Amino acid sequence: MDSCEVQLADIPEGTAEARHFRLAPADVPSPGPGQVLVRLRRLGLNAGLANRIGGPDTPYGPGIRPGDVPASDAVVEVLDSRSDAFATGELALRKSPWRSIDAADAGELRRIPAELADLPLEAHLSVLGHVGFTAYTGMVRFGAVRAEDTVFVSAAAGGVGSCAVQFAKALGATVIGSAGSVEKLGLLRSLGVDAVFNHHDGAALALLRAAAPEGIDLFYDNVGGAQLEAALEALRFGGRVVICGAASQYGKGSGRRGPANYTRLIYQQLTMRGFDVTSNEDLRPEFESAAARWLRAGTVRSVHTVLDGFDRTPEAFAALLSGGGSGRMIVNCDA
Ligand SMILES: NC(=O)c1ccc[n+]([C@@H]2O[C@H](COP(=O)([O-])OP(=O)(O)OC[C@H]3O[C@@H](n4cnc5c(N)ncnc54)[C@H](OP(=O)(O)O)[C@@H]3O)[C@@H](O)[C@H]2O)c1
Repeated sequence: MDSCEVQLADIPEGTAEARHFRLAPADVPSPGPGQVLVRLRRLGLNAGLANRIGGPDTPYGPGIRPGDVPASDAVVEVLDSRSDAFATGELALRKSPWRSIDAADAGELRRIPAELADLPLEAHLSVLGHVGFTAYTGMVRFGAVRAEDTVFVSAAAGGVGSCAVQFAKALGATVIGSAGSVEKLGLLRSLGVDAVFNHHDGAALALLRAAAPEGIDLFYDNVGGAQLEAALEALRFGGRVVICGAASQYGKGSGRRGPANYTRLIYQQLTMRGFDVTSNEDLRPEFESAAARWLRAGTVRSVHTVLDGFDRTPEAFAALLSGGGSGRMIVNCDA
């Protein structure tokens, strides 16, 4: 049995590319008492990791330096167990290093509930997983979305965004989504999004005004930059902004910029708040039950792009950052 891992090779100047990572052999550890030996089955990649590469420590983990092995949420299979909590062959979720075979404390693993075990592995990393939980937390808890709201979601065809638009639709809102390609706009329409625009097609404010002539009530932001400024202009009096992420600013270091028109918060009495999903575990049971119900009813679906082969993890991560693929970017480590 062989194991290998993906390490950061160099700190990129700007957006990370596949060449900034390297594949290296790894030892197959012997699990100690209370530990399990696990094999990666599916690895879900997060754009937010880019913010930690060469950067400061964040609530999601320490800054990533050359030689470090990044970690993302994953479906793993137990190969060997020295814990009463897991048996060989069981499937679980884990924030896993990018390593094909690894030892983990049993307490780090969350068993996939038996009633959800028939669903495709990818769904546990999309609608039911970290991105789904992030979307639900931002949209429901911090956005307090209502059926009468017009909601705008940026990077709407991404991992978090594709869940956010579907959850807002499931709760009755009118939804506008932006994305970066014709294919992604088609995907958004197929998800029932009411109006869409490609943020490469012109000035963000003109595009948003055309999609939402009456204005918006809630902006769920994944990218920051020009779309955040446009949303601040388009928000109706008393509107809300939920800052989930700022993908357009990652990798910019001290060149990062906030919205120049933030004084709109005063005149329009807007509220803008950020959130960190990791502080909201109390919401997980409500989220899991809602997401599973919507999934089974066909109200929402898993949106994901799968690349086959653990060795293609750097390529998949670079594609995620450059806008390639829709929904959750997942590496199929079985292939
Ligand atoms: N707050 C939390 O607790 C939390 C938890 C998880 C994730 N997040 C954040 O949520 C956001 C989405 O994460 P994800 O993993 O699902 O990633 P994602 O949306 O699947 O991927 C990022 C997308 O952002 C868009 N983008 C990148 N650069 C851009 C730019 N300069 N201008 C406009 N759009 C740009 C691209 O989409 P297009 O091709 O459509 O332009 C890209 O595909 C990230 O910002 C992440 O950091 C926050």
